[in-house]
This record gives sequence, structure tokens and C-alpha cells, in this order.
Amino acid sequence: MPIDGSLDSIQLRADRERVMGERSPHFYKETLHLERGKGVWLYGADGRQYLDFYNNVPTVGHSHPHVVNAISRQLAALNTHTRYLYNNAVEYADRLTATVADHLDVCLFVNSGSEANDVAWQISQVVTGNAGLLVMHNAYHGITQAGIAMTPAKGLEPARHVEEIPAPDDYRRAVATPAEAISDTEKAIAELRIREIDLAAFIVDSAMCSSGIPDVPDGFLGAIASTIHAAGGLVIADEVQSGFGRLGAMWGHELLGMQPDIVTLGKPVGNGHPLGVVITSRAVLDEFQAQVRLFSTFGGNPVSCAAGLAVLDVIEREDLITNSLTTGTYLREQLRQLAATQPLIGDVRGRGLLAGLELVTDRETKTPATAQTRELLELMRKNGALVGKDGEHAHILKLRPPLVTTRQHVDLFVDILARSLIEVST
Ligand SMILES: Cc1ncc(COP(=O)(O)O)c(C=O)c1O
Repeated sequence: MPIDGSLDSIQLRADRERVMGERSPHFYKETLHLERGKGVWLYGADGRQYLDFYNNVPTVGHSHPHVVNAISRQLAALNTHTRYLYNNAVEYADRLTATVADHLDVCLFVNSGSEANDVAWQISQVVTGNAGLLVMHNAYHGITQAGIAMTPAKGLEPARHVEEIPAPDDYRRAVATPAEAISDTEKAIAELRIREIDLAAFIVDSAMCSSGIPDVPDGFLGAIASTIHAAGGLVIADEVQSGFGRLGAMWGHELLGMQPDIVTLGKPVGNGHPLGVVITSRAVLDEFQAQVRLFSTFGGNPVSCAAGLAVLDVIEREDLITNSLTTGTYLREQLRQLAATQPLIGDVRGRGLLAGLELVTDRETKTPATAQTRELLELMRKNGALVGKDGEHAHILKLRPPLVTTRQHVDLFVDILARSLIEVST
């Protein structure tokens, strides 16, 4: 019998495999069958409610009424594409570009984070005339062919035009200094040159989720960006994870002191409505558009723009960036207190409402607790909370609750985590 006890769920899982393939990815031994969401809560077909500390897409909360109404109203009025004129695409581009540095003043609208990164990569190659790309160790940037090449986290044969830079890691090795970052970047550029490939770009997720959610030292990304610029490359800030207040500031690159030439957005940008954005400078866009005619049918359609505008409204009206900062700090305080009595927790990291818990079987050897992390995810689900895992050894518990999470939710979550940790097999 599945955890949710429903024969409908068993049938649905079988039907899903029939029409979507047996290997279509899913979470949990018994896939969770969901019916609706509200705020930080997801409601299952089993009649249970789950505290959602995993999903960063509904960043202003599941089914936020302001976003739902904005989408519904726009869909009832007009939905078309950017080859026609309508107000809200321009309004949205203006609102978005007002949140980034002055030189980033134009937007290209697409449908997902992968597509945004793919387009950013096309722009970088066209503008520099080069073909080399630097990424962080074990980075994840998407599912298009270009996205997979910039995603060592997939574990595929490294692409010839891509080199990795080591991610900072103050738990397992000494804190990486900006000087080390510069030398690692120069080494990676030199490796590309040995293969007669010059640098087009460096792309980085400021949250560095798949690299283990490390605490990125001050000056680290700024030092890399300067080295990239000196070598003639462009800097792409992938804000798909870190954007819209996740780290306690509107943008991760802004918080970490990095000046990008291109910013890419996805996931939280439409609070669940599919939307991706590439923000860059007018000069870069003009150079690209002089050579490439790019048009996305759905990118920037009026309904997507209404969703995007509504997300910005809620972030501002509900002061969610401040909440991300303060509630995130409270979350880490509570997690560190828990770590004092739970030896499986080796390290607690993160910023804002992104937290990473590195789980180890032994605090001396820091051996990754991969199997225990997998088991903990199941136990947390059984006990009523959803979390994720990430990192090279899939042993880092990844917490990314909606930005409307309160201290009371954190207390409830930490209680569920404490109960679940006790149940993990030793
Ligand atoms: C940092 C980062 N970039 C890009 C992507 C790809 O976004 P999407 O799945 O919307 O294509 C992801 C998805 O997890 C991501 O984490």
C-alpha cells in the first residue's frame, strides 16, 4: 500500500509510466500525488498537507491570489506574442531592468531557464566571436544541447569547449580566496587555449546549488568576473535559483559583488507560470541582433508578462526580500541548534531562504551520508515536509521554501526534521 494509501495514486503512477516512460523522473519511492497548493503548503490526494521547503518556483507562495488573478484577467482579455504591440511587455521589461545595474537595460523573453541560458550562450559567441565557456565545478544550467554542455552535474563526457573552475568550499578545504579564484580562472582559460579555443563567456549560478550551496567568500565572484573581462569574455549571471530575493537580496550577483554582462532568469520569475528572461545591455543586444534574428513565440506573451509583473508586485508589497533575509537567518540559527544534538548534520550553510545542510556519517572524516540523505527525504515526506538534495554526492539537504515562510513555519519544519533525523537508520 502506498504512503498515501490511495489506489488512485497507484493507477495514476502506472498510467504515467505508460504515457511518459518508466524512467520519467519522480520523487519518493511512492510518488507524491498532489491536488492543490496554498502559500507554503501542498495538499495531497491522501488528504494530508505537506510543508513545502523544496519548491523555489512558487516563490511568493503556491497559488498566490494576486498572481492567479493577474493571469486570469489577462488570459480573458488578450494573449498574443511580441510581434504585436501591447503594453505589459514594455511595462514588465521596464520594471525588471529597474532592479538591475544601469547598463543592463534590455530584455529578451523566452519560456524557461534552460532557454534563457541557451540564448545567453548564443549571444556570447556572436558578440565575442569565440567559443570557449567556463563554468563552476558540478554546475547545472539546463537541458538544451548548449545547457547540457554547461552542466557538468549531469556527469556526461565534458564538452570540448567547456572548462570548470573549482567552487569555494569552506567545510572541506580552506576558504577559497579571490586570489585563488583568479589563478583557477586563468588556468582554465589557458586549458582552453591549449585546445585553440578562446573565451566567449563564464556562467555562474550565484547560489551554486549543484556545487553544494557553499558559502561564497566576499570578492570571489568579482575576482573571477574581472579575470573573464580581461580575457575578452562575457559574464553571465544565472539567477534561475538565486534571483527574486532567494538569497535575501533581489539578485545573487548583486549580493556577491559581481558585474554581469548578461542576467538569465527562470523558475520563480512567473511563480509557476513558464517564463524565462535574458537581460543584457543595449550594445550587446544590438550586436547580436545585427547577426541573428531571434523570436520566441510564447516568450513575453501578455499572460506571461502579467504573471511576471504580479510576482514583482507581491515581492514589493509583502516585503519578501526582508522576510527572506530575517526568516532565513532564523532558519539557520535553528538548524545550527539542531546540529548540536544531531551528529549527521556536518555543516549548515546558505543565505536568505536558501539553506544547505551537509550530512556526513562521521564528522571527523566528513564522509558524505548519501544513503542517509535519501532515507531522510522519505522520512520527512512521511512526517509532513518536502525537502530536496543536491551536491556531487547527493548528500546536501537543499531547503528552498517560498519567501512567504514565517518563523512559525520554520519551527514546525525544524521539529519535523528533528523527528525524522531520529528515525534515520544508523
Ligand atoms: C541554476 C539553474 N539554471 C538553469 C536551470 C534550468 O531551468 P529550467 O529547468 O527552467 O529550464 C536550472 C534548473 O534547475 C537551474 O537550477
